[in-house]
Amino acid sequence: MKFTITTSLLANAIAFSIAPNEVNAAPLSVLDVWDPTITSPVTGTVWVIGTEVNVTWSTDNIPPDGVSNGGHIYLAKEEDEIIPLSSNFDLVAADGSFTVTVPAVVPDNDYQIVLFGDSGNIGPSFSIVAPSS
Ligand SMILES: *[C@@H]1O[C@H](CO)[C@@H](O)[C@H](O)[C@H]1NC(C)=O
Repeated sequence: MKFTITTSLLANAIAFSIAPNEVNAAPLSVLDVWDPTITSPVTGTVWVIGTEVNVTWSTDNIPPDGVSNGGHIYLAKEEDEIIPLSSNFDLVAADGSFTVTVPAVVPDNDYQIVLFGDSGNIGPSFSIVAPSS
């Protein structure tokens, strides 16, 4: 798998994802770091701008005590663009699937999804295309 997202970009996304009203959340413990594998979109997936699509991930190994932070889904492209696709949601209750609307980005084949729970996870590159007219 090719990772094109830099650590600093992820750090920025993490900082962005923590709103001021969340800073008093319980400190993270080692036990609740859960890094689920993204199962959609994957290589070969094509999203059409303006449509609703599901981001899905493996629900194996959910920590028994839950996940202390909410989930966040971002769309990332190379090193210079990261777009939030979701507000804060309950990663465990979402049960491996969250519906998002494909934003009006420049069509290309090197988009990636970043799923944040307690830590970030990056999916493989996939394509976004314009709707056919
Ligand atoms: C997304 O998931 C929901 C719930 O499982 C399902 O009803 C819907 O058809 C899915 N949408 C797509 C585009 O797969």
